[in-house]
Amino acid sequence: MTTLISSLSRRRLLLGTAAGAAAISTFTPTRFAIGQTAKLKVGLMLPYSGTYASLGNNITDAFKLRLAEVGGKLGGREVEFVQLDDESAPPKAKDNAARLLTKDKVDVLVGTVHSGVAMGMAAVAREENTLMVCPNAGAGALTGKNCSPNVFRTSFTNWQPGYACGPMLIKDGKKTVVTMTWNYPAGTEQIDGFKQSFTAAGGTVIKEILLDFPKVEFQAYLTEIAALKPDAVFVFFSGDGAVKFIKDYAGAGLKAKIPLYGTGFLTDGVLQAVGNDAEGIKTALHYVPDLDNAVNKKFVAAFKAATKREADVFAVQGYDTCTLLSVGLDAVKGDAKAGRTLYSTMQNTIVDSPRGRFTISAAHNPIQDFYVRQVKGGKDVLLGLAVKALADPATGCNMG
Ligand code: PHB
Repeated sequence: MTTLISSLSRRRLLLGTAAGAAAISTFTPTRFAIGQTAKLKVGLMLPYSGTYASLGNNITDAFKLRLAEVGGKLGGREVEFVQLDDESAPPKAKDNAARLLTKDKVDVLVGTVHSGVAMGMAAVAREENTLMVCPNAGAGALTGKNCSPNVFRTSFTNWQPGYACGPMLIKDGKKTVVTMTWNYPAGTEQIDGFKQSFTAAGGTVIKEILLDFPKVEFQAYLTEIAALKPDAVFVFFSGDGAVKFIKDYAGAGLKAKIPLYGTGFLTDGVLQAVGNDAEGIKTALHYVPDLDNAVNKKFVAAFKAATKREADVFAVQGYDTCTLLSVGLDAVKGDAKAGRTLYSTMQNTIVDSPRGRFTISAAHNPIQDFYVRQVKGGKDVLLGLAVKALADPATGCNMG
């Protein structure tokens, strides 16, 4: 960490001078041979092992797919990737991010999936004044009380999908609910968002069950739920944990008795693995693979052709991360340290995403539509709009 801090202070000193400012406005990437420009180093700090590995892989592959579509360059510079497996381990987050910046000397940080890891990364990105784009993790503080001019998110805040879900259950006549999730910000913030809109519309949460991340010993809780007989169960689980939960829920005989709902992360990317056990699950999310727009149709086909896998929300977020970086860096000729010009270009971009067009809030989080979906015939299908242009309240954000 000492190296990180001292390199930081040196940069601040440089930027504080007129010479530093002039150097930035006339930026030309380092040339290492005639006609060749230094590569832009992108650090992909994502989970490539553990329960969220498939999410990290889809983000990575879709980012690279989009990069190929825009000609393989960002801001006129060829891209070199440095990939780091963050293991969804918050205690390692700061050291990992610092290593990417000081040892690997990446120009841009992209990551991550896990809210706790993303907060550690963002603390380092802020300290180092390095552009960071978060392609998944929904920690509210990232674009709330810890918001920062150099930190952007192309995904969601945990509050958004949770909040979008409440009315869906009320419309289905479900008034009493047991919630269940992992005890870390993604789980607790999504359940809080859900409770806000669900209880405001007359629903009651009769029991909240929390497990440590990434535990998957669900059995005793499922027995308890069967005895409580709520109208419905509402959960956040994702990745391998979601696969296990959906299978155990059906295995415990609850599927036919108590309808299962959740934020859409429950079913995205897991449907092939769970088969019939997921049939009928209703969720809300900012993406559905069958969305009828040209960008989505092209994306779904291209992702399948490139990876032999189905597109999901995580792939969309990786794809859009590259789009946003491409627009921003093109505007500053590849100068990832351009600061205000770069950040204001990014904030004012309307991203033409497979999820539909979205804008970016002053706190740097997407303002986007949420959809009601249901698993039918092994696929998530669109049932309708849940909430139009939902913006996170960004409580406590002050960009300074
Ligand atoms: C998070 O940790 O913020 C998170 C992880 C996986 C998801 C959604 C959110 O599917």
